[in-house]
Amino acid sequence: MIELEDVSHSYGGAELLSGISLRLQPGSFHFLTGPSGAGKTTLLKLCYAELRPTRGRVRLFGAELAGMDRDAVARTRRRIGVVHQDCQFLDHLPLAENVSLPLLVAGRDVAAEAGNLRELLAWVGLQAQTEALPPQLSGGERQRAALARAVIMDPDVILADEPTGNVDWEMSLRILQLLIELNRMGKAILVATHDLNLIRAAKAQVAARVLRIKGQQLQQAGAEL
Ligand SMILES: Nc1ncnc2c1ncn2[C@@H]1O[C@H](COP(=O)(O)OP(=O)(O)OP(=O)(O)O)[C@@H](O)[C@H]1O
Ligand SMILES: [Mg+2]
Repeated sequence: MIELEDVSHSYGGAELLSGISLRLQPGSFHFLTGPSGAGKTTLLKLCYAELRPTRGRVRLFGAELAGMDRDAVARTRRRIGVVHQDCQFLDHLPLAENVSLPLLVAGRDVAAEAGNLRELLAWVGLQAQTEALPPQLSGGERQRAALARAVIMDPDVILADEPTGNVDWEMSLRILQLLIELNRMGKAILVATHDLNLIRAAKAQVAARVLRIKGQQLQQAGAEL
């Protein structure tokens, strides 16, 4: 569904990522690790066409990114749910409105989907916080809200950037469980994380592949996990 072929990226200076190939297929589960600054967030941005590569090819659902205009990119992105590293909420809007914002942007009838929204917020355990403003939420609540917003359009692929970055172990496992449930529904999942314990916990339940960015390249991480 998302394919990177020999992709490189530089923000102007030296290449941060070099010759990267990656295929996210339906039902796959990947982790992406690597030290801070290695380029995990950058690689995710290449996967959802927030960035275009400086070299190489990106194919999204069979279409070449190079041949897509802004509208085509915007339409394609609706099939990709992103959990941003910093959540990126609009702080003046209540949680329920933040989560349903992608529907509004896509021109869908938000009122008609109120039932779905309620169900989704219950699934992430935030049914009591629907009217809260984002600054009033805890770290774990924010992360679950970000996950709900990422899946409200029923995407085929979910890219989660440190989705357990600011939460305790119990909450990390809960968020992992939600991602595993989405994967069991057939969605492709890619999770950038530093947390090796989280990866171990996932591997006990799903056939997750672990990738690592090292020296600008993407490697399969292996036996040490
Ligand atoms: N828009 C940008 N312009 C210039 N440099 C950038 C930009 N975004 C990121 N970088 C640089 O690219 C490098 C990789 O950043 P990136 O956010 O992809 O790393 P990361 O692996 O996600 O790190 P972390 O684990 O801290 O989230 C960093 O050195 C960063 O400063
Ligand atoms: Mg990052």
